[in-house]
This record gives sequence, C-alpha cells and structure tokens, in this order.
Amino acid sequence: MVETLSGKLNDGAIGVFDSGVGGLTCVKELIRLMPHEDIVYLGDTARVPYGTRSQETIADYAKQDIAFMEKHNVKLLLVACGTVSAVMQSVPIFEGSSICCYSGVIIPAVDAAIAATKNGKIGVIATPASIRSGCYEEEIHRLKPDVEVFSRAGALLVPLAEGGYTTPGCEPAEFFVREYLSEIKAKGVDTLIMGCTHYPLFEEIVGKFMGENVALISPGAVTARLAYDALKAQNALNCDTHKANIELYCTDSVELFKENVERFLGGEIDAKISQCKL
Ligand code: DGL
Repeated sequence: MVETLSGKLNDGAIGVFDSGVGGLTCVKELIRLMPHEDIVYLGDTARVPYGTRSQETIADYAKQDIAFMEKHNVKLLLVACGTVSAVMQSVPIFEGSSICCYSGVIIPAVDAAIAATKNGKIGVIATPASIRSGCYEEEIHRLKPDVEVFSRAGALLVPLAEGGYTTPGCEPAEFFVREYLSEIKAKGVDTLIMGCTHYPLFEEIVGKFMGENVALISPGAVTARLAYDALKAQNALNCDTHKANIELYCTDSVELFKENVERFLGGEIDAKISQCKL
C-alpha cells in the first residue's frame, strides 16, 4: 500500500476503480471521511462482471482501467474491485504504470477480519475469480496460520446488486444469500469478509442471516479508512477546504449508471457523471 507520495501533490485526486458500481461502497466511505478530497471513479459498466472471467482477461481489463486513471491527476489509486485485487497478486498489472501509490482491497479486508475474529473462524464470500485465486485464504494464513477459513464463490450476487435487487424481502437476494452462506454459517464463523465490493449492498440481508454476533467486513469501506490513515500520516490530505470534485465515469450508459449511483451513494452527493471509452 501507499509507500511514498513523492512527486504527487496534496491536491491530486483519489482515484478509485471497479468493474461496475461495487467500488462506490469505497467512495461512500471516502466521502464520509474526507469530504474535501477530489475523487475520480471509474466503473467499467460495459464489461461487468469481471469475476466470472479468466485471469488473463481480468488483467487485460485492469490494465486499461489503470491507463484511464493515469490520465487523471491521481495521488493514490484504490483498486476497489476484489477481483482485480486478487489477480494483481499474481499478475504484475502495475508494471510500466506511472502510478506508484495504490492499494487493493484484499490486505485491508484481511487485516480487519483478523482484528475482528475472536474464535479464529473467518468466512469469505467473493467472486469466482477471487475465490479461485486463493488470495484471501493465503493472506489470512500468512498473518495467522491457525485461523480457519471457509470460502465460497457468490457470482450471482453481482448482477442482483447491479440490478437493484438488494433490499430485505427481495426473494432472489434472500435466496442467494442463503444458498451461498449456509455452509459458512454452519461452520460457526464469527467474521465474514464480503470479499467483493458489490456485496455490502446486501449487508442487511446477510447480517440477519448470519446473526448479530458475526462481524461483517466491507472491503471497500476498510480500504477507504486505510487510505485516510495513509494520506494523513504522509501529510498528503488536501489542505484546501473547497467543495470536492467528484467525477464518476462509466463505460456504458450514464442513465443506467446514475440509478445505481443514487442507490449506492445516496441522492445528496453532487457528482459529475460521464461516459468514457477505455
Ligand atoms: N466488485 C467486484 C469485486 O469486488 C467485481 C464484481 C464482478 O465484476 O464480478 O470483485
């Protein structure tokens, strides 16, 4: 994560990208913590989902996402996509990139889960590509070999989140939460990493299903908190108390994206939304 911000000025924006709208769970927390920071967000809505694709395709898309971010003055880039963060661990997609300060969501989510667990049993639900990579389990065991990890891929929650089927009582959402989490729940985990940044949209349903004693970790939100701490520690927060510029880019229709932005961020956010080509 953020090693040095040399050469990047305090007034650069925080860049955030995801395959779609999931990364807005990170943006929401960034805005809450740092209301004066400019944010540039990219959601590759024309090609979502990434999580059901091969590692090569995901790496290829991610390189294009990063190239887009390089055109903006970003002082820090947050990869608010669990799937890209997982692929990044084995494919050096930042090689040759001018962006030196970045964080994926895996390490922040794992750190938060290890801090939260009391019984040493952690559940992980993420996209098929993330689960296949084994990165959550590997990182947890690197830090704490004795923790038991129970993982499951939950691909169909992504289209449900993108389609707005996330509220309690919504039958498809309730069904797939039960389907994907029953085995993990039966193992007695006390902490669950919702390892895809889309999943916190189901927090109410998941929380009710898992029970109030299970800590739910939102990778986007914990990464935003880490970004805040890192920028503050390096004296790299924007000192100007101007109204922040929030620029949101999508690769498919602005109309469709707008609905999701309102649902994810709440209507009161004053953001400029545009379509872009990668
Ligand atoms: N939001 C993404 C993640 O965190 C990806 C969902 C997808 O594109 O499959 O993994």
